[in-house]
Amino acid sequence: MGLEAHPTSPTLARERPAPDAVPGTPLPALRRGSTPELLTQADIDAEIAAEHAASAARRTAGLAVPATRNDFAPYRSSVLRHPTKDPVQADPEAVELLAPVFGERDVHASEADLTRTGTGEPIGERLVVTGRVLDGEGRPVRRQLVEVWQANAAGRYAHQRDQHPAPLDPNFTGVGRCLTDDDGTYRFTTIKPGPYPWNNHRNAWRPAHIHFSLFGTQFTQRLITQMYFPGDPLFALDPIYQSTTDPVDRELLVARYDHDVTQHEWCTGYRWDIVLTGTHRTRMEAPDPGEEHA
Ligand SMILES: [Fe+2]
Repeated sequence: MGLEAHPTSPTLARERPAPDAVPGTPLPALRRGSTPELLTQADIDAEIAAEHAASAARRTAGLAVPATRNDFAPYRSSVLRHPTKDPVQADPEAVELLAPVFGERDVHASEADLTRTGTGEPIGERLVVTGRVLDGEGRPVRRQLVEVWQANAAGRYAHQRDQHPAPLDPNFTGVGRCLTDDDGTYRFTTIKPGPYPWNNHRNAWRPAHIHFSLFGTQFTQRLITQMYFPGDPLFALDPIYQSTTDPVDRELLVARYDHDVTQHEWCTGYRWDIVLTGTHRTRMEAPDPGEEHA
């Protein structure tokens, strides 16, 4: 069973022994056998189309539509976990006493290369993914902790809750992190993750993706999203990708192939910028600060 979207980001893995205790962590996807009557892809496709039509109607009527639906019914576990009460105000300083912390000196350059965590090369298509973290004015966000986690080339996470029958890769843990430089640029070397099944509905498969976390300047600012690869045939079928309501916003979650990043006889290259604010900002899995909600 694939799982989604599990808290295996590097900082959390280091700081928190119990992943289930991470605030905001989604519930695991429904386990195989717990839902005897799984819906079909056609059922989910119809639900996605109906949700999109409803969102379009609201926009036409001048009503607010959230950029990312946290209670998107076709994405079953999102309904179970989305907030039903207003956020509890917490003392930011008290939160920081219990939250993960890091120092810039803790982040080693080698952690940006996910192909160097074992004794040999991981299996799969080696690639570099790079881009800039920017604010809404196009200014670089410097010294930003960027963390990634992903499945291996076979679509399997190195995580005990992922038990779907695809091989683990002893040379690939699927986690990495780096700091953005003066230009706001991050850069990872990794392998292309495979698509994987999950139990949202019958024969449900996630498009290949890499999870990204941006730490901000304190834990309460942490933002999480997913980067996708261009041309994936599973986009239209995936209720998580489709829970971002605007087609333009969905496009912004897709990296572009960049031949200038590709290296001769070594790896392919992809570029993906992350914009934190403004109308072209990258949509995150939790509500953006200041985002209007219906
Ligand atoms: Fe995932």
